[in-house]
Amino acid sequence: MNVYDSERMTEALSAHGYAETGAVEDADLVILNTCHIREKAAEKVYSDLGRIRQVKGARAASGSDTVVAVVGCVAQAEGSEIVRRAPVVDLVVGPQSYHRLPELIARTRSENRSLVETEFPEEEKFARLPQRAPSRGVTAFLTVQEGCDKFCTFCVVPYTRGMEYSRSVADIEHEARALVAGGVREVTLLGQNVNGYHGAGPEGRSYSLADLIRHLAQIDGLERLRYTTSHPRDMSDDLIAAHGTEKKLMPYLHLPFQSGADRILAAMNRKHTAREYIDLVGRIRAAQPELALSTDVIVGFPGETEAEFADTLSVFAEVGFAAAYSFKYSPRPGTPAEKLSDQIPDEVKADRLARLQSVIERQQALFSQRCVGRALPVLFEKPGRRPGQLIGRSPYLQSVHAKAPAGMLGRVVPVEISAFGPNSLAGVIRPE
Ligand code: 5AD
Ligand code: SF4
Repeated sequence: MNVYDSERMTEALSAHGYAETGAVEDADLVILNTCHIREKAAEKVYSDLGRIRQVKGARAASGSDTVVAVVGCVAQAEGSEIVRRAPVVDLVVGPQSYHRLPELIARTRSENRSLVETEFPEEEKFARLPQRAPSRGVTAFLTVQEGCDKFCTFCVVPYTRGMEYSRSVADIEHEARALVAGGVREVTLLGQNVNGYHGAGPEGRSYSLADLIRHLAQIDGLERLRYTTSHPRDMSDDLIAAHGTEKKLMPYLHLPFQSGADRILAAMNRKHTAREYIDLVGRIRAAQPELALSTDVIVGFPGETEAEFADTLSVFAEVGFAAAYSFKYSPRPGTPAEKLSDQIPDEVKADRLARLQSVIERQQALFSQRCVGRALPVLFEKPGRRPGQLIGRSPYLQSVHAKAPAGMLGRVVPVEISAFGPNSLAGVIRPE
């Protein structure tokens, strides 16, 4: 979502004469779009600001001003504390106020003081942002839902992104059509809790995510749809059915389970058991037998025993994932889990993470290996590293490279998979 937000901010600022530069030394305006989900991500902001302070100093010595803005969830969570800790910062703007960036930048310049904007304004951010500029790629993100009211006890999202909010179907359709007109062929619908989507539909009734997918699938030229990230509790029957019936919906699903131990799941306030998750996967696979799954898992949640960690490994053994993201539990300010007494030592977390990651690597390699010899439809996105090569994605989000003419960019082409590496597949296009 931060990638999407950064694009929208870039577009909003280009209307005010700004253009992107690859070199921070050339920048009159530096925006750090930040993430607060784990401590490591949040701390990175301050080390980056140290570097930017030096650049700002050097530019000032040669007579150039630099406005430094910190935006995103760290901005939302820490507010004026950021300016206190890093006086180089001129502007702190939370995720609900991006549409006000041009005005706030002009104000910090003219008033020559730092400004902090972390309100959740009444008016709708998306309505205030300018229309999408023509896209530069074949695939695009599209935020359909923001915020979350699930309140998992480890997670800062409900505090930084606020309560659930769904954009209207008309608004989303308009943006999707603009993307497709600009050459986009695949759209990934985004939301912190995307399958909780419930937006106002064209006939005045509320649309579910499945309704939205069916609606967007009618857009000519849009070849592929994906969505992320989902909560197991919101995998409704109509969404499961859509996986079987909607040809444009890719057979890939990111569905975090966080822990395989029921006691930990309850302490996390996930509102489901390990068995319920596994049964749910069974129902989705019944609707779409081709489905590949990815997930998020946390190791070392407060109180997690070795046996409970083993329960997490058991879910991997039983489900079989094509990919997974795993994290050491990171205590976040203001969340209930941060206050639990039985925090796990970092060495134990690191050891569990390493063991889990070797399981994940094996499962990912196994999944890739099973693709060898199959012809997979690949949407080519960009030139590869070698001349004459293109890179695209399989339905399962694997990166695939093949020798292919540039004219195949933006097209879905069957590619016979011949080999796999840790992060990609290689294939051959058979003459038609
Ligand atoms: N510590 C570690 N991982 C976390 N995640 C969210 N909050 C934390 C935390 N406090 C992980 C979850 C979530 C993913 C986006 O980040 O697995 O699904
Ligand atoms: Fe955070 Fe996801 Fe839980 Fe919402 S559902 S609180 S975003 S982990």
